Amino acid sequence: MFWRLDWRPRINTPSDLSEVRTRVPSKFKAMPRHPSINIREMQVDDIPGVVELGNTLFSAERFPTLYRCWEEAEVLRIYTGYKETCLVATREDRVVGFALGSVLQKPGNPWRYGWLEWLAVNPAYKRRRVAQRLVRQLQERFVEGEIRMMLVDTSEVNKNALAFFRKFGFGQEKRHVYLSLNLDNHPKALERRFLDE
Ligand SMILES: CC(C)(COP(=O)(O)OP(=O)(O)OC[C@H]1O[C@@H](n2cnc3c(N)ncnc32)[C@H](O)[C@@H]1OP(=O)(O)O)[C@@H](O)C(=O)NCCC(=O)NCCS
Repeated sequence: MFWRLDWRPRINTPSDLSEVRTRVPSKFKAMPRHPSINIREMQVDDIPGVVELGNTLFSAERFPTLYRCWEEAEVLRIYTGYKETCLVATREDRVVGFALGSVLQKPGNPWRYGWLEWLAVNPAYKRRRVAQRLVRQLQERFVEGEIRMMLVDTSEVNKNALAFFRKFGFGQEKRHVYLSLNLDNHPKALERRFLDE
């Protein structure tokens, strides 16, 4: 547990103590860095909380690509395949963060990769090292599973996540571009619409 002591009164004599105590503004009192937030393996009961938190963060307006891929079925896919690398951060049994990881291995390739697929922290708890604790624990689990490299990807405009990943130590960034093609005007789509009308 880390404690932040931003301000320490200079105490001259024991008789100063009572005065000092009354003068300490409440915002300078020792603040827990992450108050009673527990990091543990995800359970089935956590699924609704994980989905709900993801729904609020991976919105169509902020992150269209993440939004398209995020849904309950995606959480179930990762959870059923890789329980040991699905972690949640909870406060009083409420999900306030999660890290969902999976393992990639190709036949004939001895390297195993640990992919951090989804990471999120409730904005009310941001910058309290919740993500750092989640990813550290995930990293340990990957190492225990003899994984030699961790992978992560996110949108280029997701500056907060990029700042976090870089600070954590991820590097060797490669650009990957998503393209799309609207199929509404495909002849078969037009034909179907014509027949439906
Ligand atoms: C990115 C995210 C997971 C970070 O969670 P967090 O719990 O606030 O991050 P931490 O407190 O563990 O940050 C650790 C360090 O990373 C860096 N960092 C984290 N967020 C940052 C931000 N918004 N701006 C700059 N640096 C940041 C800082 O160096 C920070 O240490 P410091 O606070 O002592 O300076 C969180 O903002 C989030 O859920 N974003 C939306 C979902 C998302 O984009 N997920 C990633 C793609 S799947």
